[in-house]
Amino acid sequence: MLKLPGLIDPHVHVREPGQTHKEDWDTVTQAALAGGVTMILAMPNTKPPIFDEATLTLALDAAKQKTRCDYAQFLGAGPDNAEIVASLADKSAGLKMYLDSTFGELRLDDMTLWAPHFINFPKDMPIVLHSESRTMAAGILFAAIYDRPVHIAHVSLKEEILLIKAAKERGIQVTCEVCPHHLFLTSPSPNSEGIGGGQGGGRMEVRPRLATKADVEALWQNMDVIDCFATDHAPHTLAEKDSENPPPGFPGLETLLPLLLTAVDDGRLTVDDIVQKSVINPRKIFRLPEQPETWVEVDETAEYEIKAADQFSRCGWTPFEGWQVKGRVKRVFLRGKVAFEDGKVLAEKGFGQNIRY
Ligand code: DOR
Ligand code: ZN
Repeated sequence: MLKLPGLIDPHVHVREPGQTHKEDWDTVTQAALAGGVTMILAMPNTKPPIFDEATLTLALDAAKQKTRCDYAQFLGAGPDNAEIVASLADKSAGLKMYLDSTFGELRLDDMTLWAPHFINFPKDMPIVLHSESRTMAAGILFAAIYDRPVHIAHVSLKEEILLIKAAKERGIQVTCEVCPHHLFLTSPSPNSEGIGGGQGGGRMEVRPRLATKADVEALWQNMDVIDCFATDHAPHTLAEKDSENPPPGFPGLETLLPLLLTAVDDGRLTVDDIVQKSVINPRKIFRLPEQPETWVEVDETAEYEIKAADQFSRCGWTPFEGWQVKGRVKRVFLRGKVAFEDGKVLAEKGFGQNIRY
């Protein structure tokens, strides 16, 4: 039996308010606990997006009723809310800026709209950037000019991880996260069968896109540059993924730890890497409190097949369907209480705490 601290996932799309047919604060925190995750940071691209006091209250009221693990909510950077979000910073996980194409309405193309956020948002909290490739380079330049921390979400490319490494060596305040799907999956070749059980190109849609083998290898080779693992858990229903107009995104909370533990078994990662990147570093980067009497018990020897049918997420599919993994979450303690045991979520609705209050 392996004992780990409760994992922190700094990048989760909860879908509430507005799209609870995909997921809500209840199902997402059940999925988290089943995956050994005891704290989630929720992204703001909901319907409506979380970008002022009223929308933050909307999200947090729902969360308060329903969550089964601990959480905090990100604010979204809009074209004219820099002062408002700065004033709400201490009630939030941080500020998310969408600088590239994504799901939802939050996106800032015009660089003149970036500066007010870089100037106003408290400098002891990072701004999280959805920024890919050259946009990421621009975001790092802004961090240098305005002398403040940025955290790059879901790094997927060789050119990105190498630039982050160089920026860190220069003393620029940049940290980053990588998602399991960018470590374990590559872009499909034109004739491949696809993922998630083999059907349908829509299931492969995710932003950033799955990258080439060379990109994936560069991520593994630069494991020391990666500060955090983050799932970017982005549930969309199977019907939506298999439709004419599939939205991008993968669920990930329940497959994170089994995939990482399988990589440990393969000798590609260490348990210490998991603890550093899924507990210690996210706690430090986002200034999160320790969770007392909180841990995860794992049977490292359990081998099994990943099946969407076993998941708590409402989305009903996984890109890792049928994968053989080694390492099963047996029991999760959250603040002294058994929150998950042998496939059952035992923490009740409302047991989760907003760590910013
Ligand atoms: O694939 C993605 N899905 N990338 C994003 O940036 C957003 C996310 C979502 O919310 O569905
Ligand atoms: Zn995301």
